[in-house]
Amino acid sequence: MAGNVTFTMIKPDATAAGHTGKIIDKILEAGFTIKAMKWTRLSKEEAGKFYEVHKERPFYGELVDYMTSGPILAAILVKDNAVEDFRNLIGATDPQKAAEGTIRRMFATSIAANAVHGSDSDENALIEGAFYFTTREHA
Ligand code: CMP
Repeated sequence: MAGNVTFTMIKPDATAAGHTGKIIDKILEAGFTIKAMKWTRLSKEEAGKFYEVHKERPFYGELVDYMTSGPILAAILVKDNAVEDFRNLIGATDPQKAAEGTIRRMFATSIAANAVHGSDSDENALIEGAFYFTTREHA
């Protein structure tokens, strides 16, 4: 059975463009509740660790530079079928391929600066949430 937790980050392009409030509205309107939330800025070391699975990809260096270029908003979200429903809400990684009405279609500028992150599995939702929050903060 699908889990009810996912993890998101509103990324530096979206926070810098003043889209944070509008994106949170879309998330709440879609039926998610916020279990934990943190406004922060990643160091190169932290971003490198968070995206370690992409280490061998050609865009890894660009991704780390971009994710450390400004503040982000990290959050743990709760809803039935959270991972899949959230990925449908944000749309495809490439905003040009994202469906009309999705968060990335509305707010992202490029495949790298794509406004929001959404976990791709229940397992990664827990791992990624634990990267930012202690168990006590989201119990
Ligand atoms: P996300 O799915 O949140 O996590 C991996 C990120 O890598 C992805 O969002 C994009 O921001 C980035 N990414 C994926 N593919 C590319 C690419 N081809 N070029 C640059 N960045 C990418």
